[in-house]
Amino acid sequence: MGHTICIVSQKGGVGKTITAVNLAAALAIFGKRTLLIDCDPQGSATASVGINDKKSGQAFQRALQEINFTAEIITHSCLELLKVIPAPSEILQNDATPISMPGNEKFLHTLLARFRADFDYIIIDTAAAPASFMAINAIITSDSVLIPLQCELLAFQALRNTLRTLIYIKNKHRLKLKLEGVLLTMYDKGEDVSERIVQSARKHIRHRLFKTVIPRSVQLRESASFGRPLVVQNAGSSGAQSYIQLAKEILAKKKG
Ligand SMILES: Nc1ncnc2c1ncn2[C@@H]1O[C@H](COP(=O)(O)OP(=O)(O)OP(=O)(O)O)[C@@H](O)[C@H]1O
Ligand SMILES: [Mg+2]
Repeated sequence: MGHTICIVSQKGGVGKTITAVNLAAALAIFGKRTLLIDCDPQGSATASVGINDKKSGQAFQRALQEINFTAEIITHSCLELLKVIPAPSEILQNDATPISMPGNEKFLHTLLARFRADFDYIIIDTAAAPASFMAINAIITSDSVLIPLQCELLAFQALRNTLRTLIYIKNKHRLKLKLEGVLLTMYDKGEDVSERIVQSARKHIRHRLFKTVIPRSVQLRESASFGRPLVVQNAGSSGAQSYIQLAKEILAKKKG
């Protein structure tokens, strides 16, 4: 059964999408059947794996409107073992659509039931709004959440807000949701703020923290425009290696 990890943060621009895309690709490189689901209507994860065609999101959107999931919703990517459900189109940005009525928070969970056994890992990217309709759907269907903690000022405030919202959703929907881990992102070695955030995180939440730290890297930043995750584009780069390390950590955790 696909272990489902949702990438969540209430703060925008902290590395959710880059993490979702590179982690999913790294897991596929390690031979795991992986599904990347883009639950952010902005579609950044979809574009980052080279799916630009507008039609690709229509199947997901139709599924949402008709509450009917067919295999056509899943598309191929640059890696054989990495499949993708591209972001639905704009309609879901409008919380007044019929699909976002109360009771529909579990539609993704219901619809995924048919496919879960076909994958070892399912990675879901979400928008910076964990209480939005799409994100709640993603959280409800996940076994765990991974929270990026950007090495930036106010990082812990963002983490606290995110955890508060997650606890609310977990209690409200009686979920078993676990914390996969907190991931330090955009770390600048030697830079004062970065060092302070890493030290504080290691002091206060060490047992919740991934050992892997994602460095700030120009190659990671530019990778979205290649339409291929950096772990595929340039596996030897330090940014790619950090995500390969993260995938190893997650694989080891599941075994242990
Ligand atoms: N490790 C990194 N090094 C350098 N740039 C990075 C790194 N991680 C992310 N970025 C850049 O920072 C920006 C935000 O990253 P990303 O889109 O992954 O964040 P996000 O949390 O998904 O944002 P949003 O909340 O808008 O969806 C992007 O321009 C991305 O290329
Ligand atoms: Mg994003």
